[in-house]
Amino acid sequence: MRADSSPGYDGRVTGFSRRLIDRSGYEGEGFASDYDRYRPSPPEVLLAVLMTHAGTDHPQLVVDLGCGTGLSTRAWAGHAERVIGVEANARMVARARAASGAANLEFIEGFADETGIGSESADIVTCAQSFHWMEPAPVLAEAARLLRRGGVFAAYDYDVVPVIQPDVDAAFTAHVAARSAARSRLGIEAGGATWPKSKHIDQIRASGLFRFAREVQCHGEGTIDARRLIGLAHSIGGPRALFDGRAPEVDATLATLHATAERQLGDRTWPTVTGYTCRLGIK
Ligand SMILES: C[S@@+](CC[C@H](N)C(=O)[O-])C[C@H]1O[C@@H](n2cnc3c(N)ncnc32)[C@H](O)[C@@H]1O
Repeated sequence: MRADSSPGYDGRVTGFSRRLIDRSGYEGEGFASDYDRYRPSPPEVLLAVLMTHAGTDHPQLVVDLGCGTGLSTRAWAGHAERVIGVEANARMVARARAASGAANLEFIEGFADETGIGSESADIVTCAQSFHWMEPAPVLAEAARLLRRGGVFAAYDYDVVPVIQPDVDAAFTAHVAARSAARSRLGIEAGGATWPKSKHIDQIRASGLFRFAREVQCHGEGTIDARRLIGLAHSIGGPRALFDGRAPEVDATLATLHATAERQLGDRTWPTVTGYTCRLGIK
């Protein structure tokens, strides 16, 4: 069943996602490789929670919907028998294939609501930082079709601003806020404006396709330096070319973040924590 609920929805989930992808700037030259270099991979604890809830420590199949460059797909290579990433942006798929050497990983170029993968074949289906790009009802229907009974659907997202140092965190938060205000002012569509992440759990419950649903918070730990932090900031929300020179506040807040990071972080590598919110639905 397909819901007709987002503005401009054309009867297919692909219409909504296609429009976002076309406007994302994610197809631009070099964006996929920088994305893959600077964005985080899911922490082991998150994978452990999903496996525990699916009742297995070695899933036969994990399907990762909206897998991007495969950061969220590759994480499963050492845990699952087989992992399939599904991604609609050809450049991201090409990067995912190039970056993944493991024989049990494969990538399908396609849309999350129509994967072509067999019914009841998956133990775990994930949407990592991608569910807000998708019309939820048809994607949840596809996830439920893919899952065996007792399998787990997870829509999880990380906090865009990592925890490092207060001045740096404040400058990063100001930059993200400036980007988001500029997008609204200039009418550049963002998935989260139509399908807020805070409502993912309600979507899962309202679908009626899962016998139990809950939210789980966890975090990943790592290290970061000023160069990586700036790389991460550049990868957030698509390239600045998206604004076509019409959002000087985005450039200004990025310059402030750059200067703050160099001043506060210096040449050192710092410990960092990234928060995750995971919404689970058990079939
Ligand atoms: C923010 S990225 C997340 C990528 C990856 N999961 C990660 O954790 O880094 C969201 C991705 O979802 C893809 N996407 C959006 N809508 C989609 C759809 N309906 N089907 C498949 N992929 C989609 C976008 O092209 C984009 O690469």
